[in-house]
Amino acid sequence: MTSLTILSKEGEASPSISFNPENTISDINPLIYGGFTEHMGRCIYGGLYEPENPNGLSDENGFRKDVISCFKELQVPVVRYPGGNFCATYRWQDGIGPKDKRPTRPELAWEGIEPNTFGTDEFMAWCKNVGTEPYLCLNMGTGTLEDALAWLEYCNGDKDTHYANLRRQNGHKEPYGVKYWALGNEMWGPWQVEQHSKEDYAKKAIQWSRALKLLDPSIVLILCGKDGYSDWDRYTLQKCIKSIDMHSIHYYSMGKGHYTNISSVYAAERAIQVCSSLIDLARCEFDLSPFPDVELISTKPKSAKRPTICFDEWNVWDPERAPGNKGAEELYTLSDGLAVAIWLNIFIRNSKDLGMATIAQSVNVIAPLMTTPRGVWKQTTYFPLLLFSKYMRGKSVSVHVRTETYQGKTFPEWVQSTCAVPKLDVSAAIDDDGWMNVAVVNSDETRSFSTQLAGIDKGIEVQVFALGGENFVATDANNEENEKIAIRESTWIATGDVYTFERLSFTLLRWKLSRSPKN
Ligand code: AHR
Ligand code: AHR
Repeated sequence: MTSLTILSKEGEASPSISFNPENTISDINPLIYGGFTEHMGRCIYGGLYEPENPNGLSDENGFRKDVISCFKELQVPVVRYPGGNFCATYRWQDGIGPKDKRPTRPELAWEGIEPNTFGTDEFMAWCKNVGTEPYLCLNMGTGTLEDALAWLEYCNGDKDTHYANLRRQNGHKEPYGVKYWALGNEMWGPWQVEQHSKEDYAKKAIQWSRALKLLDPSIVLILCGKDGYSDWDRYTLQKCIKSIDMHSIHYYSMGKGHYTNISSVYAAERAIQVCSSLIDLARCEFDLSPFPDVELISTKPKSAKRPTICFDEWNVWDPERAPGNKGAEELYTLSDGLAVAIWLNIFIRNSKDLGMATIAQSVNVIAPLMTTPRGVWKQTTYFPLLLFSKYMRGKSVSVHVRTETYQGKTFPEWVQSTCAVPKLDVSAAIDDDGWMNVAVVNSDETRSFSTQLAGIDKGIEVQVFALGGENFVATDANNEENEKIAIRESTWIATGDVYTFERLSFTLLRWKLSRSPKN
């Protein structure tokens, strides 16, 4: 949560960021730093998995070792798989057992060919290697409930039953204990094989949930929402609230031109806020009874637990620039790197409502990390992810920001009349070791801002991590030869309380508090 004082005229007052480490808002769920790997473009084949790498970059399983190192560096806690749109025609049984017996199939979501040489057991082995949790998305397109139950039994079954035994026969004695399962992906989308109406989907989700939980009551089920502010979200939540544990939403920000690109991210903050209201609405059925002797308003929630939001596809993506069926290999600019930092600020500010978030995607496809046969290189978007995952943990801290705002054209258009687009975008966190972390994006293209930090201990030594800044322009990008946009580290002794945030920069300031906050 951030509150804003908007400076309408240049020079009206100086910008400021006010905080008090004792004003914590909520825990930050570490699962917001999740990833997503889909059978799409070069994400799995050539990204995670490249058994024939000519430069010895893959291990004995065919997994790219350099990619695994980056996942470890990013401390990715959970990875969604195998899609995305890919799920809608995926037959999981094609991807298990001896590799020479696995069928090659046409792939309909991205108009490719699926060799099935990487499947469930490979993904589980890869997750174990990385030290991350698997999150599987069920095929609710061409797939049946029987297929879904069989997959759950294959992964989690510990009894002497058919699919659990098939897993054992394939060399995996212990159950995988996959906790997170999604009830389909973008089931509302006209591009989806077996697009559903909200009524048909809700009915099916309730039935599937009951059966899946009969087989394994310990799983966490994720409902397929839309963007968080649609009638699909309202309806499916209302019908399925008692059957699910999280509600998934997707949104990609984008815009032609720097400020439009930046403004687009604020739709995500509004989406989280609206969606969390829809969750409350669905949970608390207000019963306006016509009988005078009956309590007028029932205060008992329909569902005892309050589902959280699972933002399981988020990022910057312009599908015209990087079409899905052509591999969606976006080249991310500094503007996009700042947009990703704002996305992450939004997750920290709204951490109360977020149970998980998985960036779409993690490797090669609209990704912070790119592979070549020679190695990996990091896009501008890699570095905010790294800094957030490393430092923005523990509890979210409330912040008040005095800043100018951007007033021009936005994408989507409604952002302009609904959300403020602050030039200084801020979130703050205090970690379990008593370090205060303040993340600040200055999205202004031409002006650096000398900003009062009301709340900083004078004289304290502050670690500074910065991305971008005055030597760059918004369209600058990295490439294989040159990662010119990367983290710059320095130290600042806070002799005063004014810090200058350079134009077009993301800065993370962190210092150890001299005393721990009381709460
Ligand atoms: O992440 C790329 C695609 O975007 C996913 O497959 C789909 O769910 C979304 O439309
Ligand atoms: O490219 C096809 C679809 O178009 C994607 O899955 C969706 O996110 C986009 O709107």
